[in-house]
Amino acid sequence: MIRLYNVSKTYAKANAKAVDDLTLEINSGEIFGFLGPNGAGKSTTIKMLTGILTPDSGTIEIDGINIAENPLRAKALIGFVPDNHEMYETLKGTEYLKFIGTMYGVTGDTLKSRIDKYADMFEMTDALPNLIGSYSHGMKQKLSVIAALVHDPKVWVLDEPLTGLDPQSAFQLKQMMRKFADEGNTVFFSSHVIDVVEKVCDRIAIINRGKLVAVDTLENIRSDNKVSLESLFLTITSDGESK
Ligand SMILES: Nc1ncnc2c1ncn2[C@@H]1O[C@H](COP(=O)(O)OP(=O)(O)OP(=O)(O)O)[C@@H](O)[C@H]1O
Ligand SMILES: [Mg+2]
Repeated sequence: MIRLYNVSKTYAKANAKAVDDLTLEINSGEIFGFLGPNGAGKSTTIKMLTGILTPDSGTIEIDGINIAENPLRAKALIGFVPDNHEMYETLKGTEYLKFIGTMYGVTGDTLKSRIDKYADMFEMTDALPNLIGSYSHGMKQKLSVIAALVHDPKVWVLDEPLTGLDPQSAFQLKQMMRKFADEGNTVFFSSHVIDVVEKVCDRIAIINRGKLVAVDTLENIRSDNKVSLESLFLTITSDGESK
């Protein structure tokens, strides 16, 4: 479960709020899609709810734990897949996963069996013994997904997770999100690809210029507006030209 209450953030020297008074509740068992044009505030929101950035005001709770008051306990519950894949290029895939697992307190056979399971799912078994520096963009993305899961998080946060994945891996990832949510966990992911959001999300929010402009189930959004999600998205974000 993720809760954000009246969360705002302005970057130094910026004249507008990157995130403006955002309140959202995302339940366990839910895949929640966070949609918005470039520069809308998606990554800033995600960085705040994973504890990378501190909000100027407002409160964030992960499974009832306030991230400002108990950052380590809150972060231990989160698996995060960032939108960039700056990784330790001189480590091998296996070394990286062991390093991440150990940091989260997962070791030995538990760690090994989780690495083996996810490597098999994403067809990364043969690549793991190689240096990360030799990986393609998609392989780094898959490694990042595996690294976010080795500590068995309750909340999975992904920033533009399908970018760069081939169709098989994208399908696999969408299936994994569904399974993870069906097990009672929470998935929060950002995207500007409407098709993906339409296919996998239980509920969506649309953010534009830092402000929440819609949040509901897809069915309700569609029936209230009698238009496709794409036309709705284009209409309500039409003043938010790309930066
Ligand atoms: N480090 C930063 N310093 C200053 N301004 C920033 C910084 N990061 C983001 N911004 C600004 O904050 C706003 C929100 O950016 P953010 O990265 O959260 O958008 P986004 O929705 O993730 O966009 P995209 O779809 O392009 O990834 C934008 O106006 C952006 O220019
Ligand atoms: Mg972003």
